[in-house]
Amino acid sequence: MVERDVEKTIEALLEERRTFVPPEEFTKQANVSDDSFYEQAEADPDAWWASQAERLHWFQKWDHVLRRDPPHHEWFVGGKLNASYNCLDRHLEENGERVAYHWIGEPGDKRTITYAELHRDVSKLANALKSLGVRRGDRVAIYLPMIPELPAAMLACARIGAAHSVVFGGFSAESLKDRINDADCKVLITADGSYRRGGLVPLKQSTDEAVKDCPSIEKVVVVQRTAEDIDWIDERDVWYHELLKDASIDCPAEEMDSEDMLFILYTSGTTGKPKGIVHTTGGYMTGVSSTHNLVFDLKPEVDVYWCAADIGWVTGHSYIVYGPLANGATSVMYEGAPDHPDKDRWWQIIDEYDVSILYTAPTAIRTFMKWGTDYPAKHDLSSLRLLGSVGEPINPEAWIWYQEFIGGGKTPVVDTWWQTETGAIAITALPGVSTLKPGSATRPYPGVFADVVDEKGESVGLGGGGYLVLTRPFPSMFRTIFGDDERYVKTYFDKYGNETYFPGDGAKLDEEGYYWLLGRVDDVMNVSGHRISTYEVESALVDHHGVAEAAVVGRKHPKEGETIVAFVTPKGDVTGDESLMKELREHVGKVIGKIARPQSIIFTDDLPKTRSGKIMRRLLRDVAEGRDLGDVTTLQNAPILDEIRAKSESQKASEG
Ligand code: WT7
Repeated sequence: MVERDVEKTIEALLEERRTFVPPEEFTKQANVSDDSFYEQAEADPDAWWASQAERLHWFQKWDHVLRRDPPHHEWFVGGKLNASYNCLDRHLEENGERVAYHWIGEPGDKRTITYAELHRDVSKLANALKSLGVRRGDRVAIYLPMIPELPAAMLACARIGAAHSVVFGGFSAESLKDRINDADCKVLITADGSYRRGGLVPLKQSTDEAVKDCPSIEKVVVVQRTAEDIDWIDERDVWYHELLKDASIDCPAEEMDSEDMLFILYTSGTTGKPKGIVHTTGGYMTGVSSTHNLVFDLKPEVDVYWCAADIGWVTGHSYIVYGPLANGATSVMYEGAPDHPDKDRWWQIIDEYDVSILYTAPTAIRTFMKWGTDYPAKHDLSSLRLLGSVGEPINPEAWIWYQEFIGGGKTPVVDTWWQTETGAIAITALPGVSTLKPGSATRPYPGVFADVVDEKGESVGLGGGGYLVLTRPFPSMFRTIFGDDERYVKTYFDKYGNETYFPGDGAKLDEEGYYWLLGRVDDVMNVSGHRISTYEVESALVDHHGVAEAAVVGRKHPKEGETIVAFVTPKGDVTGDESLMKELREHVGKVIGKIARPQSIIFTDDLPKTRSGKIMRRLLRDVAEGRDLGDVTTLQNAPILDEIRAKSESQKASEG
């Protein structure tokens, strides 16, 4: 990130100087009410993590807590466990009748699923998957909407030792195809369709389009959600409900090695295809169970917990599925959009189910702010006792609004920093003990060790800004990039060596040692709390027949977070007009998914380049955000910038 950006962000963050000490009432009942866990973990991190691993059921205990081999560490070596067993079986005796999910469909249909019921469905599906030829060590792709069959499918895979690769239902056929092929998935579990904002999403159609180019897929399991007409391939497709009808409910969980792969989840990198982030069983389960318990101060007997993310992202994997279920929590799971049928849908749900803990993203909070306080005010939200935030830096204005209008001015707000790679929350407040500063994720979780360093890797010290690094392994960290370990080492351990993980975020340490996360420092944009690389969107744009060249940047927006701006040079005989703009947006939506569609497209005859031909995205970012330009003397075509800027300004004005 450019120095100027950092300064501006910090200035904005520091405008809000209020701090919030934890309410005494909260601390009294909190799972963490003093600093002893921090002290324990500081003194002996391995012993601390071992104590957290004890939260799980192990078929066989580990021989070593940590086997160090930078950058390939192993945790709980020799231990044997099963994630599905930990999420289901061990709760049955005492809490089988406890609700695992209160599920709410977008059209208004509802289902309540107890742990015993989920166990039954998962066991049946696990047997059914076996009957389709899925074996321990295989990969299964899952492309489902937010319906209970999604966690069931994940747990069924985990039960038999197959790794799942969940692909977000909003991704296109092409994205699905790439992910299936990269992981060589044997079976795909999908649905006939899903509901979004009252409309139908034709998932099976995308599936058919993708799978025709996926030679590894042998069977497609289809959940009936919408009962719309779909195409059917007899020898390939099988209905989920028919599979389950005949399946036995008796399916003992495989004893997996602690380091066996639990799942792959794809995330964007700066270059090339998305990275298949690999998580293993023992370390990941330890991390999500521990953090879900302490960060959300979970009381599984009484809390109703709602993480409003989509399971297609890591937030949902860790804090809708594995963390909450491992802890025996009762969750709310909602299928649809926050404004369907009206903009108070979330608040109506919280009121109806007495939700006590809500975990969501700043982008959602800012949307609610825009819609106004009348919507939450219509409902009784007094059941809420804790709020969480994740996905991007939360601007203090949104933080304060969230606490005031959703949390009734009383609830702690935990800002949680982490990534697909870290698997679990890594920098965060603990609500019973942390004095909160809106905009800061406070400090590393017990057992996580971080620092802020400069370009050379030297600590910047209190008051300094630079790059965030994680300096000691912790259990829930990913182990590699699927099929490309070289890329794993190069992407994350090249900058500061094998001992120091580089997450790609800028950060500042304040005088009290609080961490202020400042966003990505690479060519990765954060759109609504999800990573999209400039490279992916550029590739999608130049893939269109009318485009000669394209450069993409993220435009920071005080309200929207980050939006995508594309600078596009059309081919010689093509005119950059409204209709091309529309076509390109649709094209990117088709190639990657709606989330990646540029908000603005600016047509230009040329792009600013260095003499060696490298596109200067930094300058384009300045243009997009209406800043003064820095040094342009190294450009081969400086005058083009004035032209681009004029167009950008006039377009911004017309976008309002
Ligand atoms: C990137 C990871 C972790 C689940 C959702 C995103 C940004 C995430 C915060 C936060 C500031 C944050 C970082 C990070 N980020 N949480 N609380 N404060 N930034 O997962 O897609 O892997 O993205 O999201 O830039 O690197 P992801």
